[in-house]
Amino acid sequence: MTEKTHDAGAHQHGQHTHDGAQQSGLNLHEDADNAVDMWDGMYRERAKIWSGNPNPQLVAEATGLEPGKALDLGSGEGGDAIWLAQQGWTVTALDVSAVALERAAAHATEAGQAERITWQQQDLTEWEPEPVFDLVSAQFLHSPLLPWRDSATKAAAAVAPGGTLLIVGHHPHGLPPWSHHHESGMFFTPEQLAGALRLDREPWFVEVLTDRARTIEGPNGESGTTLDTVLRARKHA
Ligand SMILES: C[S@@+](CC[C@H](N)C(=O)[O-])C[C@H]1O[C@@H](n2cnc3c(N)ncnc32)[C@H](O)[C@@H]1O
Repeated sequence: MTEKTHDAGAHQHGQHTHDGAQQSGLNLHEDADNAVDMWDGMYRERAKIWSGNPNPQLVAEATGLEPGKALDLGSGEGGDAIWLAQQGWTVTALDVSAVALERAAAHATEAGQAERITWQQQDLTEWEPEPVFDLVSAQFLHSPLLPWRDSATKAAAAVAPGGTLLIVGHHPHGLPPWSHHHESGMFFTPEQLAGALRLDREPWFVEVLTDRARTIEGPNGESGTTLDTVLRARKHA
């Protein structure tokens, strides 16, 4: 990914790390004691945080899947949900931040995809998943207040029999030099993910479990490399 950001201050999916927010003057509000304050506060810092483009690993892994019902967990400003809707999916997009969801809904309307997407304000820690989605996507669902094992387990539980689980996150050993979060515990390796979800047994068939490097742009326009952990698994019917 070598595109430039479209507007000053907006991050480019596929080019930045999502924890790059602080380095470019944004504040993740890590002193907040609840997810709403933390993430609404972060989104309010700027009119736009992410690029609006879909995450590259989502495009790589979901292109060509038979569209059905999709769930985007931690949907942010809606770039992934809108892309999925454009591919023919009926999308539920869930995020704890009402600020992000409001922006995402406006983008979906502009893109002519409003009818295909349901926006749901929900804290994942209080959410009880039902196994009804043909695709569950969780992209960079990293938060100091959300243990990744819990969110990954809930994502897996929301996949319908025959459906696909897609989890993408930062690899803990592949963060760019400017990251402040090297020791945070928010990130996971493919092996850690596979162990937490017990992917070596029924009902899972692992299709992709790997790490992938990407070129990204840092807060001062510098070039760097980041590593994504990528899982795509099919739940047996
Ligand atoms: C790093 S951002 C990634 C957003 C989007 N998936 C993307 O790739 O651009 C993490 C997102 O997860 C959401 N989030 C964090 N904690 C959450 C929680 N407990 N429940 C639901 N969403 C949460 C945040 O509001 C934020 O939009």
